[in-house]
Amino acid sequence: MIVLGISGSPRENGNTDTLLERALAGAKSKSAFVEKIVLNSLKFSPCQECDNVREDGVCTVKDDMQTVYAKIESAGAIILTSPIFFGSLSAQTKMMIDRFQCLWLSEYVFKTRAVEKNKPGAFICVEASTRKDFFENAKSIVKNFFAAVGAAYKEELLCSGLDKKGAVLKREDCLKKAFEIGQKIASHS
Ligand SMILES: Cc1cc2nc3c(=O)[nH]c(=O)nc-3n(C[C@H](O)[C@H](O)[C@H](O)COP(=O)(O)O)c2cc1C
Repeated sequence: MIVLGISGSPRENGNTDTLLERALAGAKSKSAFVEKIVLNSLKFSPCQECDNVREDGVCTVKDDMQTVYAKIESAGAIILTSPIFFGSLSAQTKMMIDRFQCLWLSEYVFKTRAVEKNKPGAFICVEASTRKDFFENAKSIVKNFFAAVGAAYKEELLCSGLDKKGAVLKREDCLKKAFEIGQKIASHS
């Protein structure tokens, strides 16, 4: 079982990244293999809304997203993480998600592929404020993304009141839950 963690924050060792590391440690403690993608370190373009989009779910834009497609396909479980930026997901996270439009079209418009929703998926999100509606915005996008990649939305950790880098280190509740999410996601079948 490979548990793939995707970090959508530009801040290395920031709050999102720290929670993702805890979750991956939890997955490892259940003997899962873990992989991590840091979106901010990849070179990829936003979706180009190609006129000649392929109907088989393959994106023809050749950049670092090709690695992301392959890793998501081979993962047994996915943990997607993002900070809240302006009431929604970070640009890095949203840019990656938009690049899955090809997959979404192949399933729901062209109907050339049927994706089973059998990968367990978890979403970890942080924000400085305590705005529930911001988390709801982010969640609704993530649920659509999970549907496109064959993941079921199983676990979530939404931590509010985290602003400065390292703030999460004082939040034992969030750190503990992140670890447990990693354990659960690695144990789902
Ligand atoms: C561009 C930007 C936009 C932000 N927008 C919001 C926001 O709309 N609501 C909020 O509560 N926090 C917002 N924040 C604060 C971050 O969500 C918060 O600092 C978070 O802990 C950052 O996580 P990180 O350390 O993983 O990057 C914003 C921060 C930045 C840099």
